[in-house]
Amino acid sequence: MISKKSVQEILETARVEEVVGDFVNLKRRGVNLIGLCPFHNEKTPSFTVSPGKNIYKCFGCGKAGDPAKFLMEHESYTFPEALRYLAKKYGLEIEEEVRTEEDEEAQRVEDSLFILNDFAKKHYAGQLFETDTGKSVGLRYFKDRGFREETIRKFDLGFAPNQRDVFTQKARDAGFEPEYLRQLGLTTEHGRDFFRDRVMFTIHNLTGKPVAFAGRILNSTAKAPKYINSPESEIYHKSRILYGAYFAQRAMRQQDECILVEGYTDVISLHQGGIENVVASSGTSLTVEQVRLIRRFTPNIKILYDGDEAGKKAALRGLDIALEQDMNVRVVLLPEKEDPDSYLQQVGATAFQEYIEEQSKDFILFKTQVLATDAGADPVRKTALIKDIVASIALIPDPIKRSLYIKECASIVEVGEEVLINELNAQVRRLLGKRRQEKEREERAAQRQEDHEAVETQTVEKPKVATSSELVRHRYEREIARILIASGGQIFDKEEQITVAEFILSHIEEELAAFESPIYRKVAELCLDLLLDKTPLSTNYFLQHEEESIRNLAIELIHSPYEFSPGWEEREIYLTTQKAPELNYVQESVEAVDRLKYEKIEKLMEQNQQLLQEARSETAPEEILRRMKIHHKLLEQKALLAKRLGLVVGPRKG
Ligand code: CTP
Ligand code: MN
Repeated sequence: MISKKSVQEILETARVEEVVGDFVNLKRRGVNLIGLCPFHNEKTPSFTVSPGKNIYKCFGCGKAGDPAKFLMEHESYTFPEALRYLAKKYGLEIEEEVRTEEDEEAQRVEDSLFILNDFAKKHYAGQLFETDTGKSVGLRYFKDRGFREETIRKFDLGFAPNQRDVFTQKARDAGFEPEYLRQLGLTTEHGRDFFRDRVMFTIHNLTGKPVAFAGRILNSTAKAPKYINSPESEIYHKSRILYGAYFAQRAMRQQDECILVEGYTDVISLHQGGIENVVASSGTSLTVEQVRLIRRFTPNIKILYDGDEAGKKAALRGLDIALEQDMNVRVVLLPEKEDPDSYLQQVGATAFQEYIEEQSKDFILFKTQVLATDAGADPVRKTALIKDIVASIALIPDPIKRSLYIKECASIVEVGEEVLINELNAQVRRLLGKRRQEKEREERAAQRQEDHEAVETQTVEKPKVATSSELVRHRYEREIARILIASGGQIFDKEEQITVAEFILSHIEEELAAFESPIYRKVAELCLDLLLDKTPLSTNYFLQHEEESIRNLAIELIHSPYEFSPGWEEREIYLTTQKAPELNYVQESVEAVDRLKYEKIEKLMEQNQQLLQEARSETAPEEILRRMKIHHKLLEQKALLAKRLGLVVGPRKG
């Protein structure tokens, strides 16, 4: 494992413009550099590299990060791989740290599982190519389906004969632990071979290691399932794997497109026909992780469906996840009764490619057309159709893309654009609210988890429902974290020589314990630590922090300066670009502190009001008087703050 010190050193040395510059053609534009985004297809550059902040950010697709993140996204490196690359580039020595026993043990288990799967893969291939039954049954089957020998070898296809436990015995003789054989699902509980009398497909991870197997039945009339698959294991997480991804990586990036099919045989057939940017979801609907996996290579996805009613229905469903991840989704319906494999084998690769090129349709426009034809002039169905279409459009994170779709769909459905825009606004608002709540819920859950771990014996707190004032408060905390990260080290007051962080923290230090969100509190606490250490504060400190969550937050926050403005959710649809008020940090700091104080005063007033009520019901005159005095004091302060904040203080509801 790379030591913390080395990690720090590498991250501090790496220059974003140099690292990105090795992959992207960059041109200077003011203090920044710009180029064509390597993560999505664009004609005018919106990919910005900021040497000052040492980060990159694409204003088109939203990808952003530091040099290490770039390598992880662009080259599909893991974090340690990215670090090693950078160390090599900058000639830095890597200091290795001894790993803990547990790390070692986990790694040993993982290694053993991979070794065992590799052994199994070779066994199945051996059965296919070197035994009589294998050749006459398995190999025969594949060849009849048109798979060439090189393809069969490349994809690690194999054969499992109809015998009780040839494989299990062989593996045990070779010294593999029965426990591992069971964990990988290669051996049943009764010690028999799990895969029997089937042709075998090896499922690889992105680095080409065998993580699982699928066995296809040979006799299609048998009652047994057509495919059986390895169970989930420490090395096989179904939702994160796409069949064929290992072989498709380079082509996906080169063609800037991923073709998604359903079956193993579809992938193999297309690949053999020279169409290599193809992966399969293996018969299940796409997961978020799978879409993100594709997104590492390209934002463009083309989904091939069988050409029947079921295929058409499937094409209308289940793509929400892809839209939400900001993918450009196109769909292709194949001719009736064909799947990608059969159709390609029938017409050949060239005609196949022409067909999918010509027939591919933008998913949203396709959906609109199908539904519009179905609905005809029926107003009730048309209303339902508008809601349905807009629901898909609302999922797209990019506001520009959304408005383009609105235009096109309005003309297909033959209604005014404003009808769709109104519906869209309503839905986007709902969605944003829902997402924010989800996020809050997650954060609270994480906090509860932490608390729980700290005091193991304590019972778990009941899930809280966020009140609107809690949500508001969260935004103030976020704003404070943002200012601290973006400009905490800047001079706040020249004469008094204090920094923005010192100003903010001196005003809110006692408030910190009451912060709702652990991560924003953490940011403030880190700043406090630095101030106490007399260490200068910089944005880089957060961008290079050892904790990933802090790094990610920093990237996110320094790019969202306008997020705080009231009503941003509503305006977000139209708001595409806005200049960052980077030089307003003095004003911003004062305002953020004031807002937090304002919020606190409101809370105190509420409490006081309650105590006043109680005093009244108990007819305790002295206490009533005291409470009323406090009330007026608070009201005064509130009015003062409100004036500074430009707020109108009205009667509070409730
Ligand atoms: N599948 C599965 N289990 C089944 C049936 C299907 O896991 N009992 C998954 C497999 O990943 C399969 C995909 O769904 O590849 C698509 O199913 P299907 O179209 O029936 O299979 P094909 O891969 O097309 O296989 P073949 O061409 O041999 O019919
Ligand atoms: Mn098929």
